[in-house]
Amino acid sequence: MRCYNSPQGINGKLMLFRKSIVEKILGKNPETVSTFLGLRSVRIKDAQSKIGFPCRNFEQDSIGTDADMDVAQLDDTFPGKFKVDCRAVKYNVFVSKSMRFNKKIHLHNRRIVGFAVKVAKNLFRIFANRYCLPQKFIKIMARINENYLKLQAGYLFPEIGRRVREFAKANPDKEIIRMGIGDVTQPLTPTVIKAFHEGVDEMADANTFKGYGPEQGYDFLREAIAKHDYHARGVQLSADEIFVSDGSKCDTGNIQEIFGGDNKIAICDPVYPVYADTTVMSGKTGPCRKNGYFDGIVYMPCNEGNGFLPELPSERPDLIFLCFPNNPTGTVASKEVLKKWVDYAIINKCIIFYDAAYEAFITDSAIPHSIYEIEGAKSVAIEFRSFSKTAGFTGTRCAFTVIPDELMAYDEAGQPHQVKPLWMRRHTTKFNGVSYPVQKAAAAIYSEEGAKEVKAVIEYYLENARIMIDSLKSQGYTVFGGINAPYVWVKTKNGLTSWEFFDLLLNEANVVGTPGSGFGPSGEGYFRFSAFAERDNVLKAMERLKKLGNVKM
Ligand code: MLT
Repeated sequence: MRCYNSPQGINGKLMLFRKSIVEKILGKNPETVSTFLGLRSVRIKDAQSKIGFPCRNFEQDSIGTDADMDVAQLDDTFPGKFKVDCRAVKYNVFVSKSMRFNKKIHLHNRRIVGFAVKVAKNLFRIFANRYCLPQKFIKIMARINENYLKLQAGYLFPEIGRRVREFAKANPDKEIIRMGIGDVTQPLTPTVIKAFHEGVDEMADANTFKGYGPEQGYDFLREAIAKHDYHARGVQLSADEIFVSDGSKCDTGNIQEIFGGDNKIAICDPVYPVYADTTVMSGKTGPCRKNGYFDGIVYMPCNEGNGFLPELPSERPDLIFLCFPNNPTGTVASKEVLKKWVDYAIINKCIIFYDAAYEAFITDSAIPHSIYEIEGAKSVAIEFRSFSKTAGFTGTRCAFTVIPDELMAYDEAGQPHQVKPLWMRRHTTKFNGVSYPVQKAAAAIYSEEGAKEVKAVIEYYLENARIMIDSLKSQGYTVFGGINAPYVWVKTKNGLTSWEFFDLLLNEANVVGTPGSGFGPSGEGYFRFSAFAERDNVLKAMERLKKLGNVKM
């Protein structure tokens, strides 16, 4: 082994230190190590020309004067090893015997250590992978979004589905009536189906076939929405402010993406779980506390005391989720209530995310269907609407989000920016539009015949709700909602928790509902029945519940 460095003095110590690292990096092959050390005294330009090492790392020809070996000699002495050592050149070449290069030495030592750590990490990674080391040892692997670990249990409805499947497996002879998730049971109406078929036929003909459509939605649908859902109620909106999508669930979840991560979110409690869960996923919260609340969210409890209507928050939020008619309580907001929120948002420069997915169930003509019926709302609110519950599109997927031109949000310097172009940017980047036949089918609900049919289906569900309310009241339950909404909100009896009531209903009556606590801590002790069931099943379920009176609760 040939070594070209004296072990004395600072350079010598550094070289020994380096030698030990290099041994770790390159292995203990003495030739390799000595070559590495030897390169210190190689003339750089020679080395570069010989091995093609990139020049930009070597802005100077600062090489030791005691070179007693040139590149050619190295090559001769250690045939085949030279290439390997090129990596070492990079980290060692500035080392000079002169103290005035100490700073550089320090810098390059750090580089060597960095390099060694990197190599070691990669080796460990390969090792960890090969030998399947437990997760805790594999910190250097691809990382998950740990905000997901803060979420409580599974998403509510799949969790209910899981429990019901388990029950069904263990009790194959039991007929289960499902009034849990708000999924429609009535088919798409004839006019909608006709338009759907026409859309499919157009796709089958080369003259009318359509590939990608406009991401924002076809004009014919957006114009119909603007005319029938807004102009008809005195709200002036242009089709350009409407974004057709595949669901309000996705839109209410995704909307946060265009707002800064440090925004404070306010949500009602209880409420549709998507708002809280997506807030957690986006990293805007701390962990979940024992009381079920996440640190960092402004909760607005809705209970019997306040008529299930949220009070204005004591702590100012930036973004506020409101949902009316409310899921799960079935509460509606009057014009006065909405005006209070719009005024609050204007004064406090907040933005309201207004989920109006159930507006079609409003029967009271005094209740606004859109937040834009309130003066000033266009400057502070985004509205979400859906064809899912309105017209039975839960399986076909079609919804829309309205972002008015005047809606502004602010950058760090306090400069206002239109929100609409940001959503447009997101939409066009991440979404390719709802399929043409589905949009065609959705537009059919605005035809005279289509509107009548859809209204009849809504009345069918509302009648279900009425039957449930009457029956549950006659059984001594305290009942809310279900009049301008498809959800009936019931207080459990005898202080049962929501999940205890869920289990009781499932096991004893084979009826599935949704535990109120799944919508937030203030939902504890309540239970939600969905009116989107078949009439026969509603009647049967109510009969079964009556018999529960004999079961000890
Ligand atoms: C519900 O049951 O709350 C809704 O159907 C869920 C949804 O619309 O995603």
